[in-house]
Amino acid sequence: MKLTPQDFHDAMEAHDNVSINPSRNPHFNSLTNPARRSLLKGGVGLAALVFFGGSMGISRDAFASTLLGFKGVPVQVDPAFDTVVVPEGYSAVPFFSWGDPVEAGAPQWKPDASDDWQVQERQAGDNHDGMEFFPFEGRQDHGLLVMNHEYINPPLHPSNQIDQSKPRPLSEVRKEQAAHGVSIIEVRKDASGQWQRVMDSRYNRRISTLTPMRIAGPLAGHDQMKTAADETGEQVFGTLNNCGSGFTPWGTYLTCEENWHNYFINRDTADYAKRISHKRYGMASSGTSKNYAWETADPRFNATPDPKQAHGGYVNEPHRFGWIVEIDPFDPSSKPIKRTAMGRFCHESVAHMQLEDGSLAFYSGDDSKDEYIYKFVPSKRFDAANPKANRNLLDDGVLYVARFDADGTGQWLALVHGQNGLIADNGFSSQAEVLLNTRAAADLAGATPMDRPEWVAVHPQTRDVYVTLTNNDGRGNKKPVDKANPRPHNLHGQIIRFSEQGAKPGATQFKWELFLLAGEQMGAKDAQGKPVPANLIGTINGDIFSSPDGLNIDEFGRIWIQTDFDDEVPEMQAMGCNQLLCADPSTREVRRFLVGPRGCEITGLTRSPDNRTMWINVQHPGISYPASDGKTRPRSTTVIITKNDGGIIGT
Ligand code: FEO
Ligand code: CA
Ligand code: CA
Repeated sequence: MKLTPQDFHDAMEAHDNVSINPSRNPHFNSLTNPARRSLLKGGVGLAALVFFGGSMGISRDAFASTLLGFKGVPVQVDPAFDTVVVPEGYSAVPFFSWGDPVEAGAPQWKPDASDDWQVQERQAGDNHDGMEFFPFEGRQDHGLLVMNHEYINPPLHPSNQIDQSKPRPLSEVRKEQAAHGVSIIEVRKDASGQWQRVMDSRYNRRISTLTPMRIAGPLAGHDQMKTAADETGEQVFGTLNNCGSGFTPWGTYLTCEENWHNYFINRDTADYAKRISHKRYGMASSGTSKNYAWETADPRFNATPDPKQAHGGYVNEPHRFGWIVEIDPFDPSSKPIKRTAMGRFCHESVAHMQLEDGSLAFYSGDDSKDEYIYKFVPSKRFDAANPKANRNLLDDGVLYVARFDADGTGQWLALVHGQNGLIADNGFSSQAEVLLNTRAAADLAGATPMDRPEWVAVHPQTRDVYVTLTNNDGRGNKKPVDKANPRPHNLHGQIIRFSEQGAKPGATQFKWELFLLAGEQMGAKDAQGKPVPANLIGTINGDIFSSPDGLNIDEFGRIWIQTDFDDEVPEMQAMGCNQLLCADPSTREVRRFLVGPRGCEITGLTRSPDNRTMWINVQHPGISYPASDGKTRPRSTTVIITKNDGGIIGT
């Protein structure tokens, strides 16, 4: 298959999220669900009232936000739209693009993409995604910006193509591997108040698919982690498909390995059929690996068992991906650490809740169709007075998966060996095997399959937890609708929120409700003047959008929603290009704050502590952004947003 920029994102999306959840976990029959019935009749207003049943006591009569102080921007439907718009009184400036030098002395990017892999490994990777700002202590104007580079696009190469129909050239594969991972860059404001890179900083660092990392937690050194190249089961090269991010109270960055399974293949179909650690994650078993066919040039991505090699060759290599990876950005010599206690799945992002007593929970969604929402509760508390004691908090704790019950309550089901059916008779002989096969363990425990859980954010005051469920065009096929996932063939997605019992991170019960269903306004007409089908109508109070993905809640409670939809398909035409919106958690009003260039996804939002600088990522712009000259190859780019009067973003 030859992938060109034109068709590449469609292809990525098409194989990104195939439902491979075979479980028969209980659902709530649509016939017993009044909200669903009203949807079928087109009575979306009633559906909204049922959904917004007020389990958290938030008034549904309040419609005017006091938090949203900016003038919203319109949708951008121009197919040639190739810039970023923000509200009046704000500025959006491109700051850091694919190919920009990261490490001190790295060469400038060549617009013909002729930089080789050794140069790429010192420059910014591709597809900027999750991002966090780590200020130096007490500073608003100086810190480290850390971001993921999720995958790569054909413009990475001079040919503008990735040809998977024949063996891949090793030089291209290495450049692609070097363009994945993480960038760490030092940034500070200059005397005129403009943000600048510190180009010779000792903190500037690239981490890629080639960087040595350590495996920690219950899987460290396990037989299932050993390969022909690593007899210890504790050392692995690199990280893959780093999507969303998070951070810890002790100042480390958490990067999430999302669609790692697309980089491996196991051609032994009999072995594949019984190896749930491959099959339950949707790895390829014929043809090539779904992303880039690296296995044709780099044997460690061929996970077909080879009895002639130690540990079966690389059959266990896929076990070494699918984790949350902890990186200390303030120690450039530190080895990234894969934290296996937090489970192995397609981690989208991670967000934590923290109490004053130091107790913690880390929430993370598994972004594939019909997959689950998890939380990890460390067994020890964070101790601000004893930094060393916090270093390995992520190695020991309880991983839970969520069940959303029809009455608006929910349960956290412990994925602990010996509990919830996770015993040897059911294929789980130890906690290590529970974690290796997290999805299968969650199936058995009875978790609720969701409409592709993307980012999680925790409200700083109420401690309500918000999760974007981006869309699920397969809902209603393998998994029926239920109250938390109420629309069949769900193209626009929803945002769910829940409150832990007692607002405590370690609670095992919660209450939940749908915060909103994304989609068009009731009564909307399509381009031909026909009523938009009920299934595409949402419950948004304010500006419409589709496919919520990135999520961030600022200190004032503003909910920042970033979108990721295919802006070429007919159902999205009213939405224009991907965008950033802001919602008020009390009134639920939604207002559009930013629209990005055609073809992009908006992601990665992070802020300075004073909320006067915001950074977002424009991922895979489709035309020529940030050059916006219609000719230069497009580059994923970090954009700085400020208010022209220096005020707080959103006011
Ligand atoms: Fe990488 Fe689910 O987005
Ligand atoms: Ca995402
Ligand atoms: Ca997405």
